Amino acid sequence: MILRNGHVIDPENGINEVCDVKITGSLIAAVGHDLDAEGEAVLDCRGAYVIPGLVDLHVHLRDPGQTAKETLRTGTAAAAAGGFTAVAPMPNTTPATDSAEKIAELVRRAKDECCVKLLPVTAVTIGQEGTTMADLAAAKAAGAVAMSEDGKSVMDITVYREALREAAKLGLPMFAHCEDRSLVAGGVINAGVASEKLGLPGITDAVEDVITARDLILAGETGCHVHLCHVSTAFAAELLRIAKEAGYPVSGEVCPHHFAMCDDEIPSDDANYKMNPPLRSRADMEALRKAIGDGVFDCISTDHAPHTAEEKSRGFAKAPFGIVGSETAFALSYTTLVKGGCIDMPTLVRMMSTNPSKIVGHTGGTLSVGAPADIAVVTGEECTIDVSEFKSKGKNTPFDGRRVYGKVLATYVDGRRVY
Ligand code: DOR
Ligand code: ZN
Ligand code: ZN
Repeated sequence: MILRNGHVIDPENGINEVCDVKITGSLIAAVGHDLDAEGEAVLDCRGAYVIPGLVDLHVHLRDPGQTAKETLRTGTAAAAAGGFTAVAPMPNTTPATDSAEKIAELVRRAKDECCVKLLPVTAVTIGQEGTTMADLAAAKAAGAVAMSEDGKSVMDITVYREALREAAKLGLPMFAHCEDRSLVAGGVINAGVASEKLGLPGITDAVEDVITARDLILAGETGCHVHLCHVSTAFAAELLRIAKEAGYPVSGEVCPHHFAMCDDEIPSDDANYKMNPPLRSRADMEALRKAIGDGVFDCISTDHAPHTAEEKSRGFAKAPFGIVGSETAFALSYTTLVKGGCIDMPTLVRMMSTNPSKIVGHTGGTLSVGAPADIAVVTGEECTIDVSEFKSKGKNTPFDGRRVYGKVLATYVDGRRVY
């Protein structure tokens, strides 16, 4: 088929112009002007962007074990609706995804149950208990593209360094959730205006910054690629900048909620505003935008973290951390960063597709001829975020009703329309 006259953006090949994309079978067959449509289905893409499918290095699909929150099926349907063609599910499932067998099971189930590609992530330690290293080599052989203890950090630094050394040998990147458990002290919201207004225990910047520094330093020492998850503080962004300048093998992601919203916008004790790391201060939010503009961050990931309405009705003190993000990420990013003047559209595509693909060696993130036809068709039109339209089981977002620019019209995986 032919995607006709869209604004095609492919940073990898330096394409940024109105032209056609031809899909033959599961592959991209041609990109160019006035492609021959003889015998082809044609989708008129005038006024829309045609871009490589988005790649999300950070989602929680809750499957197995927490399927009231999400399943492989609903989580990947939500991803497709968000323009994503591949997602990396975090291993904090029940039980934790901590072995080659469990990775293999995910890979096997994905064929039937996932409408986008799965990039499995193994836990660093068995049961994510922080004591015994998982068999990382076997997990990698079974299909894991990274390791992560997401939901927490491996606090025992000797266990952690050993895992980083092993992962360095394997070429397996570490997706680092940076949180010093001993500093959390029961915090449920950013320490600052919101914690004071609501009288709730606060999470300080140090909780994140201390472990961020540790992890970046260990990347330098071990040679393991450390990818910082959901960087939320100005100082952590600065640490990433310094580590990159030092030539350490590091990268970093930022989540839409952290650059699109901050703690002074939390109106009440509503746990749809609760996630970890928390919505930080306005100064942090602005520093993240500045850092994005400066090219400090490699990618945008969602930390899509569905929970049930009942769980999220318990208020900040008792509800679990996390908000959904698959179906709001493009619009929040386009609105805040592109419309907001931080970056241009090709840079956004780089951050949501090209770079995340490279970090895990995924064969997406490009419209090169011969590449898999993983494609998103999106626009910058104005619309309203409406949770009732979400494919995700999770409706937990603070962005319901927000006016934004950015809409996903269609998503193709291996040439097949999945949204
Ligand atoms: O907000 C979060 N939700 N942060 C995490 O680290 C874990 C995640 C989850 O699993 O719900
Ligand atoms: Zn996390
Ligand atoms: Zn997470």
